[in-house]
Amino acid sequence: MSKIIVTSALPYINGIPHLGNLAGSILPADIYSKYLSMAGRDHIFICGSDQHGTPVELTAIRLGIPPEEYADSMHERVKAALEAFGCTFTYYGKTHTDANMRTVYSIFDALRKNGYIIEAQVLQAYCLIDKRFIPDRMIEGVCPFCNGTHARGDQCDDCGHTLRADELIEPHCNICGKGEIEFRNTKSLMLDLPALSKQIMGFVEKRKELFTKNAINKTVSFVEGGLKPRSISREIRWGFKIPMEGYEDKVFYVWFDAVIGYIGITDEWSHAEADTYWKEGSTELIQFMGKDNIEFHTVIWPAILSGSDLGYILPKRIIAYEWLNSKSVKFSKSRGNGLNIENSLKVLGADYWRFMLAYLLPETSDSEFSPEAAEEIVNKIMNDKIGNFVHRAITIALRNIGMLGDTDSGQLLDGYSDRLDSISKSYVSEFESIRIREALREVVALADIGNELMSGKRPWELAKSGNSLEFSKVMLTALRISKNIGILLWPFANSSSASILKHFGIHSEPKLAMLQEPLNFDSSVPEEQVFYKIGEREISLLSEYKG
Ligand code: 2FM
Ligand code: ZN
Repeated sequence: MSKIIVTSALPYINGIPHLGNLAGSILPADIYSKYLSMAGRDHIFICGSDQHGTPVELTAIRLGIPPEEYADSMHERVKAALEAFGCTFTYYGKTHTDANMRTVYSIFDALRKNGYIIEAQVLQAYCLIDKRFIPDRMIEGVCPFCNGTHARGDQCDDCGHTLRADELIEPHCNICGKGEIEFRNTKSLMLDLPALSKQIMGFVEKRKELFTKNAINKTVSFVEGGLKPRSISREIRWGFKIPMEGYEDKVFYVWFDAVIGYIGITDEWSHAEADTYWKEGSTELIQFMGKDNIEFHTVIWPAILSGSDLGYILPKRIIAYEWLNSKSVKFSKSRGNGLNIENSLKVLGADYWRFMLAYLLPETSDSEFSPEAAEEIVNKIMNDKIGNFVHRAITIALRNIGMLGDTDSGQLLDGYSDRLDSISKSYVSEFESIRIREALREVVALADIGNELMSGKRPWELAKSGNSLEFSKVMLTALRISKNIGILLWPFANSSSASILKHFGIHSEPKLAMLQEPLNFDSSVPEEQVFYKIGEREISLLSEYKG
């Protein structure tokens, strides 16, 4: 079977990612990667911090520390929070490394040699106080469209107009706060997308059926809007220096080394393995991202890869998510006071968040998180449906262990084998189509079967009446359902899954093949509750993050 590379968009580290960021890329990628492990597939899961760019430089200047120090400390914080969230990467790297710099330079050299890098003149703000060019978004002024007073040199947030910095009224520099700005001509390096249009169109035509619908639509409208040369240089200091005469004071645009970062991070993980994944023609590159990252991955990134002609594979599947929003709770990366991947774990454990966010995953449209939705999902689905069923099944089995018979060779109730197989098949098929929210619905459906079995057959009464033949069939069926729930739950909520699976002698990462193996019920393991309900405490903690 072919190798697979799973990637999630590399989060910027100028803030701690919020729950919407997590649900819109890293979490589904992690769940999918865990599924691939269960299915025994040869894959790597690569992610890391996107460390460069203007906002990081700006924050570092404000804090009075070198950008690298700020970027590395934020990287460590985000990495630790993601790990606490149960995310397990093959490697969680970062973009500001020697390995990534080497990869960026080799790809840039190849693009240049192949004639896809061109030069242009651009008008850029120059601050006479700081004696340097200032990137557009570090220039502020009055918006010429709505007179809003906090417009940036790339956009006005009040009216939404995109702007050029030289259109701002009373422009001032965001570094020194002064208005001593001059607009000067400077050189810019461009990736010649028009010259790469044949490769880009060929790629889009061939692959787009494997993209999510939003990715197809955005890509088609992007290319139909006409391919224009795209600047890959910036007038800032924090980034990889451009190795070209006349560009000594410029660095690569953050997006250029971020997408290449997927390869650079793999290379940092293992130089020997990187090429065996990235240059093996049959490897499937499956990339998860939020909808704002689509054209960078479906047009610019394939253009960089094909233009360099170094033998790297192109993306196979593009999985783009809509937004997970919240009207009642603040999800905000920049404002720093919203519910994020660090502080959310003080409210609820990782498994609860993972399950909830997967249940609400914005796969085909935006979705909404609220404390009420949390209460509904945790209390009614995780606790009442899944947790209670498994708890009852295991408790009744343990209390009446003498009546169970041989748990490995005993029979299930008629028809249940087929019903359970059919759920497992649907689960696999949803995962193969990368419909993660739907795969989770199959786990819930399995718990529904279990609950229906318990209330229909009332095994506690069978135990009392001494009907051991029927009791044993009902309970072996209930235990089999519990074990299957434990296995299928693993990608979504791995600690809770482990607490179920220890009753079945499984003490490490489960495999899908275990669905077919003997029950192996271990009556020496005491039962404990899988999930707990949430109440006043959690709801009031959540409301501290009110929007
Ligand atoms: O939107 C973001 O957070 C970007 N840092 C995503 C970059 S994806 C890839 F290029 F690394
Ligand atoms: Zn200035």
